[in-house]
Amino acid sequence: MSNKNSEKILVAGGAGYIGSHMLRVLLEAGLSPVVIDNLSTGYRDFVPKEVPFYKADLRDPGAFFELFKDHRISAVMYFASHIEVGESVVDPLKYYDNNLVSCINLIKVMKEHCVDSIVFSSTAAVYGNPEHVPVSENSPLIPNNPYGYSKLMMERMLSDAGAAYGLKYVFLRYFNVAGALPGAGIGEKHVPETHLIPNVLRSIKDDTFEFRIFGDDYSTFDGTCIRDYVHVVDLCEAHLKSLRYLKENNRGIFNLGSGKGFSVREVLEAVEKVTGRKIMSKVLPRREGDPEKLVAFIEKAQNILNWNPKYTLEDMIRTAWEWEKGSSRNI
Ligand code: UFG
Repeated sequence: MSNKNSEKILVAGGAGYIGSHMLRVLLEAGLSPVVIDNLSTGYRDFVPKEVPFYKADLRDPGAFFELFKDHRISAVMYFASHIEVGESVVDPLKYYDNNLVSCINLIKVMKEHCVDSIVFSSTAAVYGNPEHVPVSENSPLIPNNPYGYSKLMMERMLSDAGAAYGLKYVFLRYFNVAGALPGAGIGEKHVPETHLIPNVLRSIKDDTFEFRIFGDDYSTFDGTCIRDYVHVVDLCEAHLKSLRYLKENNRGIFNLGSGKGFSVREVLEAVEKVTGRKIMSKVLPRREGDPEKLVAFIEKAQNILNWNPKYTLEDMIRTAWEWEKGSSRNI
């Protein structure tokens, strides 16, 4: 059981899909997480009972008061953000308000309490629609949607805080995260769900839900968008390694993907193979803000963090399917 003076890791957004997986990986590594989450998109029951939980909105400057009174925080993992590309195009202010104000407050509170290390969830969306794939960390940063811009601005704030106040940071630029930790009772559950793999699986589970392909006129081999999928547990292992990296280093930026691209149609085929079910789909026009091709160059994370993703696309689909079969969706 944790006590007031032992060092804790603050997990902002720990009740969400990725944050809640991170809690399991931290606990497994013998570390002590504390969660802050406003439950706007997260679930209280995704947080294990033994993990201290504070329901608060990071935009509220007083949000951290109780938490920092109760715990000695040694580092922060920052998952709390709005993350939907399409929604950010329709409602950009929602993204700039939530993501940027929260980030400012978090930096302030870290400075005030002399917490000097943060592992930040960034995104491939900072690269926009890259001319060349695979995308390295040095590729031009030209987001093509407000979500990507909000994350790029957050990176900027954190690196400026690094230069000015000595904040140490790792930015992890996620490509497409999928899958679930089997048996943990947690998984991808966004409302509404916009992501590819959960939507395909849902169309199998629910006959009234039609799966839609957003655009088949891209300049790719089969006309559909290409993405790089990484298992959520592999991703969380990279966070753990980043935390250790910050003990010896001041900053780092790493892409997290598998290094392999799959088209939307290839993902559908893989889902058919894993589930043994036929998928009915309808082609719609392109979704605004979607880049054509995103594939990560991951050698930097492999060489410097000594990180290697273990799980395949089929593993991601299989574990997501196990979760989906057991979860009840209210959409
Ligand atoms: N897609 C469909 N039908 C659907 C859902 C998605 O055809 O019902 C397509 C999309 O158009 C896209 C691909 O599947 O081509 C992947 O879409 P997702 O919504 O699953 O994921 P995104 O690539 O849009 O975005 C995700 C995260 C972002 C992150 C990005 C990085 O939501 O936070 O990956 O690649 F920035």
